[in-house]
Amino acid sequence: MKVAIDGPAGAGKSVLARAAAKDLGFIYVDTGALYRGIGLYALRKGASPASEEEVTPLLREIEEEIRFIDGEQHVFLNGEDVSGLIRTEEVSKAASDVSAIPAVRDFLFDMQREIAEKSDVIMDGRDIGTAVLPDAEVKIFLTARPEIRAERRQKQLEEKGISASFEEVLRDVNERDYNDTHRAFRPLKMAKDAVLLDDSEMSPEESAQKIKEIISEARCR
Ligand code: DC
Repeated sequence: MKVAIDGPAGAGKSVLARAAAKDLGFIYVDTGALYRGIGLYALRKGASPASEEEVTPLLREIEEEIRFIDGEQHVFLNGEDVSGLIRTEEVSKAASDVSAIPAVRDFLFDMQREIAEKSDVIMDGRDIGTAVLPDAEVKIFLTARPEIRAERRQKQLEEKGISASFEEVLRDVNERDYNDTHRAFRPLKMAKDAVLLDDSEMSPEESAQKIKEIISEARCR
């Protein structure tokens, strides 16, 4: 069974998808981490992540792989576990930039499909329901108002000891939304057959319950 969860940054996709996968015994694949790996590589090479001319040739040098260690996804970039290094704000922006490059999306496409063919998965991203797994049995488009997502993001940063003003975080959220929804190639978009879930007014427990219900209903069909 394939479950696709798409939506903008900060809607809570990864936390909810991970919890649902654990519950169901499915593997959870965070596809954003793959784009982050390429963003990190571009930054390390001094390339501008938004430049198609600079990033495309780098793909030949990249071998990216997902491995599951104790049930957790780790991303390996040319053999190096970069799972921790890809979570910075700088890499978030770089990931969003490289993800607009068609060659980057094509580069990661088969890998994502192959993972989903091997086992039951919950995959989260931006184009899973529309492009990577158009045949997914369950598609959820998870979103929340930008202000709510920025508030959650700010809290997460604070927990990591990083201080950022609400305005700053909101600006980043809006910028990434714009980037992800306006790219020409496979932009963030709700699939026609997806269930829309706006969790702005929901607690994490309520959202998790809702997702569980959506998946259970599909399993009974
Ligand atoms: O989910 P995330 O925030 O880790 O994703 C980082 C960036 O990668 C995001 O801004 C857009 C891009 N991305 C994408 O274009 N397609 C996906 N399936 C997943 C992520």
